[in-house]
Amino acid sequence: MSQSNEEQTTVMDEIGKRKKDHLDITAAGGAGYEKTTGFERYDFLHDALPEVDFDEITCESRFLNRWFSFPLFISSMTGGHHEATPVNAVIAAFCERYNLPFGVGSQRAMLEDPSTRKSFSVVREEAPSAFIAANIGGAQLAGGMEKEQIDLLVDTIRADAIIVHLNPLQELRQKQGDRRFSGIREGIRSLVNDVQVPVIVKETGAGLSESVISQLMDCGVSAFDVAGAGGTSWGKVENIRNGDRERHFTDDWGIPTVDCLLASRELVHDRCELVASGGIRNSVDIAKSLCLGAVIAATAQPVIKAIHEGGYDGLEAMFRQWEEDFRTILCLLGCERPTDLDMIHLRRVQGR
Ligand SMILES: Cc1cc2nc3c(=O)[nH]c(=O)nc-3n(C[C@H](O)[C@H](O)[C@H](O)COP(=O)(O)O)c2cc1C
Repeated sequence: MSQSNEEQTTVMDEIGKRKKDHLDITAAGGAGYEKTTGFERYDFLHDALPEVDFDEITCESRFLNRWFSFPLFISSMTGGHHEATPVNAVIAAFCERYNLPFGVGSQRAMLEDPSTRKSFSVVREEAPSAFIAANIGGAQLAGGMEKEQIDLLVDTIRADAIIVHLNPLQELRQKQGDRRFSGIREGIRSLVNDVQVPVIVKETGAGLSESVISQLMDCGVSAFDVAGAGGTSWGKVENIRNGDRERHFTDDWGIPTVDCLLASRELVHDRCELVASGGIRNSVDIAKSLCLGAVIAATAQPVIKAIHEGGYDGLEAMFRQWEEDFRTILCLLGCERPTDLDMIHLRRVQGR
């Protein structure tokens, strides 16, 4: 049944308001997990005889057959409402300047309201050569998605990949969220067959288990972003939006990022690529992620916070600090490049 214009306007207002709330709540930093990522369980094994020259160290990293200046993916965040346009423009200009990959936020709104397309197309204007990933929810794929719609998602930003986000926890805590999750796996299989670009599957902070990754590897997915627990809690974000003051069990629901990586590192080995995200807050987390089997790390909340507080310059300052710290870590582990990082560079901290 088609919606009346009035009903459709109300739905779009609701989506726009929700997305603005998401930016405001996460930028303020009050929606983190109580449980931790698990990175604190490991310490680096210091190398007093590194045998590398600091100035020779490179941070260049490869992901999905492209080289980037640094092993950091800027996670999917925004788009689909007018206030997202300047935020996406800043992220795009930054990723173009530093040759970093990034993903736009869910493009669902764009399919329903063409006036919001600009908030996505701006990224290609600002980043003509950067690696940009499209984004759509798994729930939108259940039952299949029309080829023209998929083409529109990809063509609007000339996407280099398409990300499918799985977020049942968030949907269930949203008053008007999706409630039908059957058929998503087959929807992803069809998507892989229908698009020319690689498909990446991610969670939004509650983590991908070994079983989920295994099922989707069989569907031909090229990379998995575990987006584990320990960073932004999307149960908590929605609970805050609902005005729930009491602590709810979904505030802290999810698999810690490190447990996701440990469970799947062997499984994906040589067959597809693993992205570490969910609570990546500095270069220590990035380096530990690579030791634990990820080829690249991804981050969301620190990017929004940096832009909120300091615009483009704030984001650039954060990145430069992370880059310098990462090079220091590589040197102190005796590594010349990110791919040298391995489990042997970590030691388990007793009692954690
Ligand atoms: C403001 C904001 C909006 C987000 N919107 C999306 C989205 O549209 N699609 C998506 O796949 N993930 C979205 N995410 C989730 C992030 O990509 C990421 O998986 C999650 O926040 C965990 O990473 P973090 O702990 O670094 O924040 C959003 C995150 C933030 C902070």
